[in-house]
Amino acid sequence: MATASGVRRIGDHVERKDLWWVEPLIYVVVLGGFVVYATWASLVNANYYADPYLSPFYSPCLAQNCVHPTLPLLGSWWNLSPAILIVGSPLAFRVTCYYYRRSYYRGFFLSPPACLVPDVPKKYSGETRFPFIIQNIHRYALYIALPVLVILWWDAIVAFNFHGHFGIGLGSAIMLVNVVLLSGYTFGCHSARYLVGGYLDSFHRASLRYRLWSWSNRLNAGHNRWAWASLVVVGLTDLYIRLVAMGVFADPRWIS
Ligand code: FES
Repeated sequence: MATASGVRRIGDHVERKDLWWVEPLIYVVVLGGFVVYATWASLVNANYYADPYLSPFYSPCLAQNCVHPTLPLLGSWWNLSPAILIVGSPLAFRVTCYYYRRSYYRGFFLSPPACLVPDVPKKYSGETRFPFIIQNIHRYALYIALPVLVILWWDAIVAFNFHGHFGIGLGSAIMLVNVVLLSGYTFGCHSARYLVGGYLDSFHRASLRYRLWSWSNRLNAGHNRWAWASLVVVGLTDLYIRLVAMGVFADPRWIS
């Protein structure tokens, strides 16, 4: 049976004549590249602070061995990278995100690789068994991600403070863009929609929650774009701060 877009279905088999494999390939390249870079950057434990910019991979910095501690809860006995202490929050939030699940199931598990293309794995148990049943923690991952987002906003504000003087550097602008994108991604989350008002049966006498829910809905409509943009920019933010900290180039800045 022929369908639109050059797709032909024959019994259980599907033959697509278009470049259906491009999309899962992009997922593998971008997500894989980000994971490799973020893992390296989080473990290297160096060049994550270029006054006044703190890399989002190391914020909040919770150990005494931080170059720029946010809250030194852990004493000098902690001698590993402080990024290890906080990586769980963004990792859990992104890995369990409904949109990323779709992407990496397609790209890495080929389950299914694309619409109307059969799954490569022969068995499919959905997300009802270990380990994929863990995906159900997404709502709780959001609860952990929210306070981290507040701290990243604080970092972005501090990025305009140059030793007591207001200033704007290229790093300040990058950190601001980064936190705006992270906010758009976070508040467009399906669980955020539920949290701000989606749980109600009726919005009668709940105008504020209706407005928040409508706002979250609008962000949710572009959740895939927020997801990709925030992923790429958070990596670039770390890279920019890293290169400035290494002295590869100077941060262009204007200070009042
Ligand atoms: S659904 Fe993507 S962050 Fe919640």
